[in-house]
Amino acid sequence: MHGPRAISYYEAIMSAATLPTTRDTSVPLSENKHLLRWVEKMAELTRPERIYWVDGSEQEYQTLCAELVESGTFIKLNEDLWPGCYYARSDPGDVARVESRTFICSLSKDNAGPTNNWENPYEMRRKLKELFSGAMRGRTMYVLPFSMGPIGSPMSQIGVQLTDSPYVVVSMRIMARIGFRVIQEIDKDEKRVVPCLHSVGVPLAPGQKDVPWPCNKEKYIVHFPETREIWSYGSGYGGNALLGKKCFALRIASNIARDEGWMAEHMLILGVEDPNGQKTYITAAFPSACGKTNFSMLVPPKGFEGWKVWTVGDDIAWIKPDANGCLRAINPEAGFFGVAPGTSLKTNPNAMAALARNTIFTNTALTPEGGVWWEGMTDEPPAECLDWQGNLWTPQIAKETGAKAAHPNSRFTAPASQCPTIDPDWEAPDGVPISAFIFGGRRASTVPLVYQAFNWSAGVYVGATMASEMTAAAVGGTGQVRRDPMAMLPFCGYHMGDYFRHWLNLQKGLRETPRIFHVNWFRKDAQGKFLWPGYSENMRVLRWIVDRAHGRALGKETPIGWMPGYEDIDWKGLESFPKETFETLQAFDRAAWQNEVLQHEELFMKLHDHLPPQMVYERELLIYRL
Ligand code: OXD
Ligand code: MN
Repeated sequence: MHGPRAISYYEAIMSAATLPTTRDTSVPLSENKHLLRWVEKMAELTRPERIYWVDGSEQEYQTLCAELVESGTFIKLNEDLWPGCYYARSDPGDVARVESRTFICSLSKDNAGPTNNWENPYEMRRKLKELFSGAMRGRTMYVLPFSMGPIGSPMSQIGVQLTDSPYVVVSMRIMARIGFRVIQEIDKDEKRVVPCLHSVGVPLAPGQKDVPWPCNKEKYIVHFPETREIWSYGSGYGGNALLGKKCFALRIASNIARDEGWMAEHMLILGVEDPNGQKTYITAAFPSACGKTNFSMLVPPKGFEGWKVWTVGDDIAWIKPDANGCLRAINPEAGFFGVAPGTSLKTNPNAMAALARNTIFTNTALTPEGGVWWEGMTDEPPAECLDWQGNLWTPQIAKETGAKAAHPNSRFTAPASQCPTIDPDWEAPDGVPISAFIFGGRRASTVPLVYQAFNWSAGVYVGATMASEMTAAAVGGTGQVRRDPMAMLPFCGYHMGDYFRHWLNLQKGLRETPRIFHVNWFRKDAQGKFLWPGYSENMRVLRWIVDRAHGRALGKETPIGWMPGYEDIDWKGLESFPKETFETLQAFDRAAWQNEVLQHEELFMKLHDHLPPQMVYERELLIYRL
């Protein structure tokens, strides 16, 4: 195709202080033969009108955003209120991840396990080739190189996404490190690249006018774990389309991690700094839309002056033992793809600061001033706005019809660097040291506010059996309690039983074992009211966890683990919180737990032939203690 001459030309312009206003974007930025061959082959298959190599520059971002405004996908928000921000409405049929259309096509069905959809990889390839054949006709195919993790970090991984969605390109520029800097990495070391092919599945006939949010009713989100490939068809939304996130950083990365002895987890990473300046890093796994973003940016409450919570990541953690047997974690992402509803100056002022500029909003409401709004953003709703489908919305209409202004899974895509609590070490190439893991779910009953597992294998059991009420982050089932081991049910790219074994094995190489905890901010009283105020007040629980991790706090033994007594929690600033309410929150209900254990069995039965014996022993021990 193109020789090295093109490369040195672009190398020169990319390192120049000012970019030229024009470049030939069809000229490859890489000289990696495998990459060039693959791009060529995929173009032959999908037949785009043109190929565009993404350099990742600010200028390119601005140009693409202007084109998205031109084409009707984006509305530029009022620059005085929301500087650098854009607004998009998706197709009403493309609003969340589609787990039922997500496939792990390992060579053997057994490797995907019973919790993943599997199809024969040869059959699936045949099917995908049909679907992708000519799928990009009339469109531009963007070649989008991206690094998950800081560029050059030994823990980072590289992918190249071919996509016909400019919305995806600009979103990925926020969510990952992209463009020429990544190409340099690929070319430097001939690094292995994860190929990701993405099409919205709406080819355009000559002269055919595009719609603002092209997508196809038929959707396929497909992973080939052995060859480390991702093929995504039919959707332009979030985790279906921004392939660096769930598809790569969790489903494919969990496979790489298993083979290489590390972990790719659906976890936030935060650092708790105490008044003496000692910092303790913790990772926490919660299912989608259970408050990970809020927790990762927690503002300590009244009474915790001198304490600070630092944010490393809000969704994904890659965790690896270092040469000294210490676990270290990086956030592979560069932005937040956060759930908008419920985010406010009260619940998460740091997210509000992060999203105040240079942010892309999708499926929120649009106000007459050219701003965005969503349920929970302000106490007073706007007098009127356009809802996420572009219809007039007023508080009165909402009262009469129950219509939401913003879709429950509407999102902000905001640069992590804009978060006021972003940790100074958030891009440290070797990551941050991890002292504790937290698992959590959304449970109205049974599960206490906080408890600590007895040891590592008991903690893996706690993670393996966690459950949550489903949210709007995925299509279908909202409100139902489902088992969601380590919050990885939709994201683990191989057999869940083997994944538990991988967790158990991890400890063997560690000098010190991190402590494992479970939290539940969502326990309700008999009237259905939340017992715990949550948000900032979660700091009180976090402090107990940090102190336990350092062997400084007391707890009492119960059949499920160690629990704080009322007096073990720091109540400074919240002295009025009733002791009885705390006791209700922490109540251990033997009958409810006997029922709970029966439900553990349901998941374990499915996984039985790959289930590590430790999980069976842990369950037996728990039953005896009950
Ligand atoms: C997410 C999810 O978008 O978990 O983070 O669904
Ligand atoms: Mn998530």
